[in-house]
Amino acid sequence: MTAPHPAAPAPTTAGRLHGKVALVTGAGAGIGQGCALLFAEQGATVVGCDLDPAAAERTRELAADRGLRIDVTAPLDMTVPADARRFADEAFARHGRIDALVTAGAIAPRMATAEEMDFESQWGPTMRGETDVVFLPVQAAWPHLKASGGGSIVNFASVNAFRGSSTFGMVAHCAGKAAVLGLTRQLAVEGGPSGIRANTISPGMVRTPATESAGAHEGAARDAVLARIPLGRVGRPEDIAWCAVYLISDESAWVTGGNFPVDGGVLAK
Ligand SMILES: NC(=O)c1ccc[n+]([C@@H]2O[C@H](COP(=O)([O-])OP(=O)(O)OC[C@H]3O[C@@H](n4cnc5c(N)ncnc54)[C@H](O)[C@@H]3O)[C@@H](O)[C@H]2O)c1
Repeated sequence: MTAPHPAAPAPTTAGRLHGKVALVTGAGAGIGQGCALLFAEQGATVVGCDLDPAAAERTRELAADRGLRIDVTAPLDMTVPADARRFADEAFARHGRIDALVTAGAIAPRMATAEEMDFESQWGPTMRGETDVVFLPVQAAWPHLKASGGGSIVNFASVNAFRGSSTFGMVAHCAGKAAVLGLTRQLAVEGGPSGIRANTISPGMVRTPATESAGAHEGAARDAVLARIPLGRVGRPEDIAWCAVYLISDESAWVTGGNFPVDGGVLAK
């Protein structure tokens, strides 16, 4: 099907993030990769990490193809406290400040209904995967954000923090994403006095390796997904990254504790 509406525009004005040091977890693929590339195009110094060394290399190469440089350290696992600390500490030591942290690194959630979900092998890993990958890098970066005079944290919730799905069994995913909303609101409260802002973006269905491997872009699942999207197409990583550019730029200096649906209109329906 031809998309009835155009994709987000290619960047025309660079420099909205000039002088910023931005950390991006999960920079090797999907939304994290889209953020890393767009931040670099907008003038930020981007330090990424990923669990997957091959994915990290792809992002470095894509950046180089565009005449940009992005450092992506891998393998680093954001569910491991020592790895999260190493990521933040090394970035701060190298660049002398951290202005933004975008936590896009994410383990694919185990999809099952409440009736079928296994507690040990599915519920537990999904809940840890949804929340630890946010909390640990945030905690590791926090003292450095403070020392930098404040900064901006962007975490990813989802439209599924607000609505269920009759296409996929996602009871743990919905719970985990609602947890990210609550966690981020509390970060906004705790960070305010130090100038640390924290917001969530709630994407709708974006075409990334995670949603490709879940089979979301094929057959009946694809039709069900598209039927829910008023703008008639799934998202691209850069659709999400433009919102993140705003949230880590000074344009959003008075914005914290907020949630930004970027979903082609799904939550309006
Ligand atoms: N794609 C969507 O439709 C969609 C919708 C709503 C919310 N989101 C959220 O956006 C975020 C990014 O999703 P995506 O679709 O780009 O995912 P993705 O799986 O396509 O990419 C995630 C990247 O993170 C890396 N990663 C995985 N575990 C890691 C870990 N423990 N430490 C460091 N890196 C790790 C992976 O190797 C991969 O490169 C997630 O929080 C996801 O839940 C995505």
